[in-house]
Amino acid sequence: MSVSEIFETMEYGTAPESAAEALAWLVDQGSRFGHFIDGDFTTPADGFDSKNPATGEVLATLSQATQADVDAAVKAARKAQNGWANLGGHGRAKYLYALARLLQKHARLFAVLEVLDNGKPIREARDIDVPLAQRHFYFHAGMAQLMESELPDAEALGVCGQIIPWNFPLLMLAWKIAPALAMGNTVVLKPAEYTSLTALLFADICRQAGLPKGVVNIVTGDGAVGEMIVAAEVDKIAFTGSTAVGRRIREATAGSGKALSLELGGKSPYIVFDDADLDSAVEGLVDAIWFNQGQVCCAGSRLLVHEPVADLFYAKLRARMDKLRIGSPLDKSIDVGALVDPVQLQRVTAMVDANTSGETHVAAGAVPDQGCFYPPTLVTGLNPADPLMQDEIFGPVLVSTTFRTPAEAVQLTNNTRYGLAATVWSENINLALDIAPKLAAGIVWVNGTNLMDAAAGFGGVRESGFGREGGWEGLAGYTKPKGKTKPLKTISAFSGEGGPVDGVDRTAKLYIGGKQARPDGGYSAPVYGKSGKLLGHASIANRKDIRNAVEAAQAAKGWSKTTGHLRAQILYYIAENLDARAEEFAARLDAMQGGKGGAKEVAASIKRLFTYAAWADKYDGQVHGVPIRGVALAMNEPVGVIGALCPAEAPLLGLISCMAPAIAMGNRVILSASEPFPLAATDFVQVLETSDVPAGVVNILTGPQADLVEPLARHLDVDAVWSFGAAALGHVVEQTSAGNLKRTWVNNGMARDWMGAAGEGRAFLQAATEVKNVWVPYGE
Ligand code: NAI
Repeated sequence: MSVSEIFETMEYGTAPESAAEALAWLVDQGSRFGHFIDGDFTTPADGFDSKNPATGEVLATLSQATQADVDAAVKAARKAQNGWANLGGHGRAKYLYALARLLQKHARLFAVLEVLDNGKPIREARDIDVPLAQRHFYFHAGMAQLMESELPDAEALGVCGQIIPWNFPLLMLAWKIAPALAMGNTVVLKPAEYTSLTALLFADICRQAGLPKGVVNIVTGDGAVGEMIVAAEVDKIAFTGSTAVGRRIREATAGSGKALSLELGGKSPYIVFDDADLDSAVEGLVDAIWFNQGQVCCAGSRLLVHEPVADLFYAKLRARMDKLRIGSPLDKSIDVGALVDPVQLQRVTAMVDANTSGETHVAAGAVPDQGCFYPPTLVTGLNPADPLMQDEIFGPVLVSTTFRTPAEAVQLTNNTRYGLAATVWSENINLALDIAPKLAAGIVWVNGTNLMDAAAGFGGVRESGFGREGGWEGLAGYTKPKGKTKPLKTISAFSGEGGPVDGVDRTAKLYIGGKQARPDGGYSAPVYGKSGKLLGHASIANRKDIRNAVEAAQAAKGWSKTTGHLRAQILYYIAENLDARAEEFAARLDAMQGGKGGAKEVAASIKRLFTYAAWADKYDGQVHGVPIRGVALAMNEPVGVIGALCPAEAPLLGLISCMAPAIAMGNRVILSASEPFPLAATDFVQVLETSDVPAGVVNILTGPQADLVEPLARHLDVDAVWSFGAAALGHVVEQTSAGNLKRTWVNNGMARDWMGAAGEGRAFLQAATEVKNVWVPYGE
């Protein structure tokens, strides 16, 4: 064969990795596994087989956890938690470092076991999954070390229930366990039923590291075990998996006080502009959609190609696809391995078979006739509404359409219920960085794809879930503010006998879209002072008013594009105008609440407005140093439209404490005012009207919060809801927000000291922003 023929055919043999060590390890364990609870493996019990999806061979038998197992694991984690937290940051850092070192020492064993269990190519497990898992433990050893100095006001949540999927079994375990342990939590983790073996090997590593008993507990089993963990006495649930299950977990944990993070599915766009380096973009696609057989939540599964280069690009792509090698995952020279299980193979096959649109190209490479193999597939010429363009396939299937202008690319990108990641391919930095902020996604990769690192937060918006994993921002999900909290007291409105109001009787209207609006229902309610004196009337808003307010807030999108400098000026101006009427407000607050604290509350409100005016142009993002030729720009973006149920107490300060951070960060708000004392909010409308706040940025409703909470939390155009009203409202917020999986922040029935430090600061700024990590090439 001549050299040119060799180059032409690229024929090369197999390079199999030996499975001997991994299989021997399984035999050593008796090929039957119990759970890892309180530092020991339990006796194997009834369960199920774990199979190699490439061959169908049984690798081991796993136990299906019972309620008693889950209870024992949670109990062990609870018992261990104080001691673990009290070890201090340095004490924990040493253990996390030991785990990182042991993962490194046994790297090949982990990689091969992962391949056997999951079907992914050894190249990927060896070069990506396992090194990234190690990196997470190293990185978070550092976070443990720095916790006391850098997060002095934070403490562990307690016991975390963690449920992970099968696509990156060890890596997802690392993403969950490393930050939890670093911050002083203990965990009960359930691996996915198809892929539990590396988690059990990790348990073995925990023993080798001498990790205190009960700090890490691993129970195996299917979704029923997941449900038991969700229902258990844990302080947090961290879930990665399908949107359907994520939604169920949101509903199941509603009102329980458990913290929750959801890392769900995606349909991430891969945008190729006509000026892109097309060959690099084709190579990128191999990593975007054929990495791990496309079973990647952030897979670039939706290809959007600029029309002028579409034919050329598709031709290059098809040629590259035809060179992909499909086969034994243990072969170091293959590109595409097996799907995780026959169930997944069936699911992918059924979705593609049901499609009747576009043109389908199937990679030319031979597909093994045994095992869960599915050929790399490209479907072009689809319409944006076709099911294959909208639904997550979670397989090696790329779907595509074309676009004509950057604006259309943005529109197509955002035409999805998901918002996890996006890839932009262009040689024009102006274009790439112009559209990055417009994409509804938690992660944007410029001229690269599927890049992940412990230093950069990972997570999405919309139905891709909420919360971030990795980076500084990921730590918020595993900590809470230090200090004791007190239960919220119920505050009822005063009653009275009616009678005349001093001066002219006035029914305060709602404030929607920059106008004072009569309530849709046409009703109002009297507001009495402590002595029973009638102070005025406040409108009763209904669901129609909520809809109008949401529409107005949506129309005020321009606010999100204004500069921090402008927003600061407006917040100062609001403060100035409030200050000019300070006495009048103080008198109103005293009359409504029957106390003498009005002047203090007004002064605190003015101060708080200053605080957020100060923050408006200073709550910057970060630049993460990531181990690639580039950086990740962690940009703080507005969440969008935030609905807030303001506290009953501190009727002016509470309202301002919700409004100011939200609008300072570029959000638009719908505020449901203090229910017993609504008139400070309605007076405040006049301050807003004289302070250059654009119409629709702030909308204020009065009336029973119990009637407003559901339409607000259910509304698909509301992006987040904060609930500082009665405890029961938080439950409704969490329950009904499951529809579009909006972010929520509820008081769990605990009081907040609005006058003090707890009433302002970074927690509010974090709740008012989404972090978007934009990965851009940088340096050499
Ligand atoms: P899944 O969401 O059912 O499984 C993920 C994990 O959740 C597993 O550990 C499972 O045992 C557990 N689980 C299942 N039901 C549960 C419940 N009711 N309560 C608590 N835990 C529960 O995902 P599945 O069925 O394996 O895959 C279905 C589809 O989900 C895939 O085709 C893909 O589209 C998507 N998926 C997305 C993932 C991602 O990373 N975004 C990961 C896995 C699946």
